[in-house]
Order: sequence, then C-alpha cells, then structure tokens
Amino acid sequence: MSQGLVGSLSSHIGNISFLRAIILQNNSFHGTIPQELGRLRRLEFLQIRNNSLVGPIPKNLSSNLVVLNLIGNSLSGAVPPELGYLYKLVALGLAENNLSGPIPPSFGNLTSVLDISLRSCGLNGEISKSLAQLGQLRVLQLGGNNLIGNIPFGLFNISTITLLGVAVNRIEGSIPSTIGITLPNLRSLFMGQNQLSGRVPISLSNASFLQELVMPINLFTGPMPSFEKLSRLQHFAAADNSIEDDISFISSLTNCTNLQLVDLALNPISGTILDTFANLSSQIFYMQISGTRVHGKIPSGIGNLVGPTFLGLSDNNLEGPVPVGIGKLTNLRRLYLGGNRFTNEIPSSFGNLSLLTNLYLDRNNFSGIVPHSLGNCINLLNLDLSTNNLSGPVPREIMSLSSISISLDLSYNALTGSIPSEVTRRSANAWSISKHKCNFLEGNQQLCGGSLEYLNLPPCTASKSSGINISTLLKILIPTATVAAFLCIIIVILHKRRTSKKNVSSLPSFNGHQFLRLSYADLLKATNGFSGTNLIGVGRFGFVYKGILDDGHTLVVVKVLNLVVKGASKSFMAEYNTLRGIRHRNLLKILSVCESIDFQGNDFKALVYEFKANGSLEKYMEQEGHQNEEIKNLNLIQRLNIAIDIAQALEYLHCGTDLTIVHGDLKPSNILLDHDMTACVGDFGLAKIISNILPPQESSSTIVIKGTIGYVPPV
Ligand SMILES: *[C@@H]1O[C@H](CO)[C@@H](O)[C@H](O)[C@H]1NC(C)=O
Ligand SMILES: *[C@@H]1O[C@H](CO)[C@@H](O)[C@H](O)[C@H]1NC(C)=O
Ligand SMILES: *[C@@H]1O[C@H](CO)[C@@H](O)[C@H](O)[C@H]1NC(C)=O
Ligand SMILES: *[C@@H]1O[C@H](CO)[C@@H](O)[C@H](O)[C@H]1NC(C)=O
Ligand SMILES: *[C@@H]1O[C@H](CO)[C@@H](O)[C@H](O)[C@H]1NC(C)=O
Ligand SMILES: *[C@@H]1O[C@H](CO)[C@@H](O)[C@H](O)[C@H]1NC(C)=O
Ligand SMILES: *[C@@H]1O[C@H](CO)[C@@H](O)[C@H](O)[C@H]1NC(C)=O
Repeated sequence: MSQGLVGSLSSHIGNISFLRAIILQNNSFHGTIPQELGRLRRLEFLQIRNNSLVGPIPKNLSSNLVVLNLIGNSLSGAVPPELGYLYKLVALGLAENNLSGPIPPSFGNLTSVLDISLRSCGLNGEISKSLAQLGQLRVLQLGGNNLIGNIPFGLFNISTITLLGVAVNRIEGSIPSTIGITLPNLRSLFMGQNQLSGRVPISLSNASFLQELVMPINLFTGPMPSFEKLSRLQHFAAADNSIEDDISFISSLTNCTNLQLVDLALNPISGTILDTFANLSSQIFYMQISGTRVHGKIPSGIGNLVGPTFLGLSDNNLEGPVPVGIGKLTNLRRLYLGGNRFTNEIPSSFGNLSLLTNLYLDRNNFSGIVPHSLGNCINLLNLDLSTNNLSGPVPREIMSLSSISISLDLSYNALTGSIPSEVTRRSANAWSISKHKCNFLEGNQQLCGGSLEYLNLPPCTASKSSGINISTLLKILIPTATVAAFLCIIIVILHKRRTSKKNVSSLPSFNGHQFLRLSYADLLKATNGFSGTNLIGVGRFGFVYKGILDDGHTLVVVKVLNLVVKGASKSFMAEYNTLRGIRHRNLLKILSVCESIDFQGNDFKALVYEFKANGSLEKYMEQEGHQNEEIKNLNLIQRLNIAIDIAQALEYLHCGTDLTIVHGDLKPSNILLDHDMTACVGDFGLAKIISNILPPQESSSTIVIKGTIGYVPPV
C-alpha cells in the first residue's frame, strides 16, 4: 500500500519463505526486482504497481501466483514466456513499462486468467493467436503498443469478454460482423488509431451492454448499425474514418439515455440534421460533428440538448440562421460553428452562455451588428467573428471584456466606428501585447494598416478608421507602456475582404496569434505517440513532451497530466486559470488546453506551451557544478538580463493586472530560456490568485508555504 516508501527491494525478502502477499503499490521503490523472489513458493499476490522499478521481469516466479501486477514501472526486456506457466494467475498487469518483443504464445496456457493488461508497455509483433484459448477472459488491454497484423478472430469467440482494447497500434483488417452476438457481454471496445477497415459491424446493434465504442482514426466505412437497443452507451467516438452514411442514423441514439460523448468529425457523413437531434440524451457533454458533409439548418430545438459543454459543428455545409434557442445551452464552454454558410444576425441569446470560453463563428455569412450581449460572456478566451459580413460598430461591451487575453479576431468584416474609451489598462494588457509589435500611433493609418509587418492586419481605408479617438488611446497606452516597458496593443480592425484564409481540411487551424484548437489526436501525432524520444521531463503531476505541430514547424511543449496523482487536476486548473488571463513577454505562453478522453477512454488533460529553445535555467546552474563542456557559461550581461526578465515577470504578476498573482514555486527549473536567452517564467501549477479587493489581513492569513522547500539561488 502507499506509505511513501522509498529505496530498493532487498534480496532478503526471498528468505521470508511463508510470505503469501507482497503489496507495495504507489510507493517509490527503485532498482530491480530481486531474482530471490522466486524462492517464495507460497507467494500468491505480487503487486508493485506504480513504483520506479527497472530491469527484467523475473522468470522464476511462484506457480501459486494469483495476481501479478507490475503496472506503471520502468521494467525492460522481453516478456518472459515462463509467465505462461502461472496457471493459477487470475490477473496479469504489465502495462506502462518499457518492455519489448511480442506477447509470448505461452500466454495461451493462462487458462484461469480473467484480466490481462498490457497497455503501453512497448510490445511489438502480432497478437498471439493462442490468446483465443483463454476461455474465461474478461478484460484484454493491448492498447498503445506497436502491434501489427490482425486481431485473431478466435478472440471474438470468447463470450466472457467485457473489455477489448487494441487502440493506438498498427493493427489492420476488419472486425467480424457477428461481434455483437459472439461477445454478448461487451461493455468497452477501444480500437482508435489503427488501420482497421471494413464495415462497422452491424451486429453491434445487439451488444446491449455496450458502454464505450471508441474507434477514431481508422478506415471503417458505413453504414452505421442501429443504436436503438444500446441504452447503456456512454461514449461513441468514430472521428476520422470513412463512414459514408446519412447523419439521420443518430436518431437511433435517442434511446441511449446515458450518452455523454459523440464524436463523428472528419467523416464523409451527409444529409441534414433532423429535429430528433434535440432529443438526444441530456447527459451529453461533448458533441462533435465537424468536418463532415452535413447540410441544412441547425434544428430549432437544439436548446433542449441542455448538457453539452462542447459543441462542434464547424466546417460543414450548414446554412440559415443559428437558432435563438442555442442560448439555452448554458453549460457550453466551447462552441465551434466556423466554416459553414450561416446567415442572418448573430443571435443575441449568445449572451446567455456566460460560461463560454471559446466561440468560433468565423467563415460564415453572418450579417448585421455584433450583439452587445456578447459582453455577458465574461469567460471568453477566444472570440473569432472573422470573415463574415458583420457591420456597424464593435460594441464597447466586447472591447472591455477583460478575459479575451488570447485571441479576438474581428478581421474580414465590414465593421466601422470608434474604439470606445473604456479600453482600460486592463483590457489593453489583455489583448495581444509584445515587445516586437511596438510601433505606432502617429496617425489612424498606423492603427490598422501601418504596422502590417508585425500586426498582420489588413490595410485600413481612411473612412473606416476615422472614428478612432487617438488621444484617448494614447492617454491609456503611454502609462501602460512605461510601466511594463515594451507593451503595446494590437487592435484588430475590421475590413471586408472575403478570402478563405483557413484550410477546411485541417480543423485545428493555426495562425500566429490564435489559441490553438488541439485534440488528443493532434497531440498524439505531434509527440510521436507520446514516445520516449519526445519525453523531455517528468514533473510532479505528469510528463512533459516536446512535439511538432501539423504545420511542420511549430515546436511545442506538451504537459500531460497524470490524473491518478492526487492534486494533478487541481494543479492543472490553477495553471490554466492563471495563465489564461495574463500575457507578458516574460511569462511562458500557453498555446492550448486539451481536455478530452484518450483512445482508450481515459480522461486526458494536457497543457500546450510554446517551446523555448534553450531549456531551463537549471541546466545552466547545474553546469557550474558539473563542468559540462557542452553548455556555455552565462556571462554577466546574460545573467543581468535574465534577472531583469524575471523581475519584470514578477512585477507584472504582482502589480501589472487587476489581480495579484503569486507564483508560489519560482526556481531555476521553472525559468525557461528562449533562443536569444530571453527568460520566461513557467509552471504555474501552484500559483494563487489573490484578489486585491480583500483587506490585507485576510489575504495574508491564507498564506501557506507552498512549492519547493529551499531558496531561490542567484542567477
Ligand atoms: C537469506 O538466505 C540466504 C541463502 O540461504 C543467506 O545467505 C542469507 O544470509 C539469508 N539472509 C538473511 C537476512 O537471513
Ligand atoms: C502450454 O502448456 C503445455 C503443458 O501444460 C505445454 O506443453 C505447451 O508447450 C504450453 N504451450 C505454450 C504455448 O507454451
Ligand atoms: C468461433 O466459434 C464458432 C462457433 O462455435 C466456430 O464455428 C468458429 O470456428 C470459431 N472461430 C474461431 C476462430 O475459433
Ligand atoms: C440481433 O438479435 C436478434 C435476436 O437475437 C436477431 O434476430 C438479429 O438478427 C440480430 N441482429 C443482428 C444485426 O445481428
Ligand atoms: C427506443 O425508444 C423508443 C421511444 O422511447 C421506444 O418506443 C422504443 O421501444 C425504444 N427501442 C428499444 C429497442 O428500446
Ligand atoms: C423529441 O422531444 C420533443 C419534446 O420533448 C417531443 O415532443 C418529441 O416527440 C420528441 N421526438 C421524438 C422523435 O422522440
Ligand atoms: C436569456 O436570458 C434571459 C434572462 O435571463 C431570458 O429572458 C431569455 O429568454 C434567455 N434567452 C434564451 C434564448 O434562452
């Protein structure tokens, strides 16, 4: 059990010859598993899950073993065929290790086994046909390896199977059409990211216990089976396949009253979305039908859906007005309607969606004015109204939305009028600010057109920008600029020029300033399947990978939260909440947040940051001890500059916004250096926001010591 134990496993354990159980999970044991354990002939339970053990799996374990659980270590080498002799074994867990080689055919002799977990442990080769002999098997998890070939058909004859997971491998071939009849107890089928093809098995319509059908990124074709009898279905993900069917098949999902997630993106699905769409389960929190061929209007009853926090209908052929009733979806946080042919005005009921963080209405034919009510969406991080026919002034309510810190895109419209005087220091800070973008302000032209090179703005025409009150802006901006040194503001203005600036096929679009839309699949791709070679660090709450985005040149750092670790989720929220509201050149920029499920149906949370070429300051500090030749010493000027950068970041955190932000864990490993040695403060996992409205004694009474114990060494 978890006791915070550290150290290695003593070989003397082998002398305790009456031992029946070794249960040491969730500790910090390192070193190898002593061969002497083989002398414990009475051992029944060997459970050392979630430690840091290395080396091979012992070959000579007691044949009395009932449970062997070594999940979540760093064990290496091939899986010993001798494990096949453990004929009493009921549960075998080797997942999340660094093993290699194939599944030993001897596993076919584990006739008592109910649960085999070999997820993400480095296996390759084909899935052994002998597994089909495991007549009592309930759970078989093989996801996240390098397995090739077909799924042995015999496996589909083991009627006791409840969970079959083969996601994220290189498996090909088809699934027998009878699976729903031969596996009547099937609850979870995880097949995502393989090269599976053929028809989605029609008999799944009879798999009435099915809860999770997760099969994205394959080559499956339609039509889809009926879901009428699958009343227990919760997750249905089939994105990025070749399913050619009429979207009306989702009508049969209305019987799935527990449905929570539907992902059909990137399939050649056609037809119109029927009114029954609005009768889908109120449990649905994630609904994604982007990048298909569906056309027609959004059903007016859509507001009945109530549940979704995520609704993606972008890059389809949808048209007509967006129903006013969409304002009833008050749980929505992310709404993607870009890349369709929507017309009429943007419904003012959007203002009722006060939890919205991302609203994308870009690349449509919306006309009329921008509704003032959008100012009620106080949590917005991204508002993209670009490439429409919007006219009239930009409502002052939107200009003073303080949270639009990452992206506000109003470009390619016909908007006019003046920038309201409420553009305060806070909202000015919240808009894009960067040293490199300073220029401006001698004439109106400069605001929208002059600094084209940096601001990436369309050229202004004199009449469009004539209403801007420059002196007011200057009054606000000059003090801001002096305080925070090199701050400046981008004001995206508003010009009509219809071009299709985004590529429909690449859904997660990326252009310099935008908050990226990155899915689990994108991150998987960017990091080579979260491979060991991309791993650049292990933090308190998870793993940190380097990756390259689909555009082929954007380097990113992906921090994947290990949600099993206590506090990881809290740290994720702390970091996200802190960084989303602020922007400074010496603070690490957060490019994207991904909250999703992985292809095996587990919760997945990751933060994506810009990549800093020179790594952490810690590297340079350590070097002074180790005399490592490869890293150059920091000279005095560099040290001074780094110190100034950090000081500026802290000044901004403490005084630069309306909130006081306490980082709580400032140390060299959290200071990152760019290619030009500009320093950035990162890792806000322990940050705390202190409202300066609180009287001082109250805020100080809440202070507890957080972060790394020690001191901050001088640069
Ligand atoms: C364990 O057994 C081995 C071999 O019999 C012996 O050499 C060793 O001293 C024993 N260790 C202890 C702690 O008794
Ligand atoms: C299974 O066990 C039998 C004896 O019980 C043995 O002959 C056979 O080789 C084993 N099969 C495999 C694949 O190891
Ligand atoms: C599956 O079971 C059926 C019926 O018992 C049998 O005909 C078929 O050969 C079995 N398939 C495999 C691959 O074992
Ligand atoms: C579903 O089960 C019913 C009753 O057992 C059977 O008649 C039907 O053919 C099955 N449907 C499919 C698609 O397998
Ligand atoms: C599906 O739901 C409809 C309407 O509630 C009901 O009439 C029908 O019997 C259900 N189908 C099944 C197979 O449960
Ligand atoms: C959908 O829900 C509406 C309102 O709850 C109801 O009137 C309608 O009959 C339902 N339609 C179907 C096909 O169940
Ligand atoms: C939005 O909220 C207001 C007041 O809370 C309410 O009167 C209005 O009906 C709502 N609109 C929609 C579309 O839900």
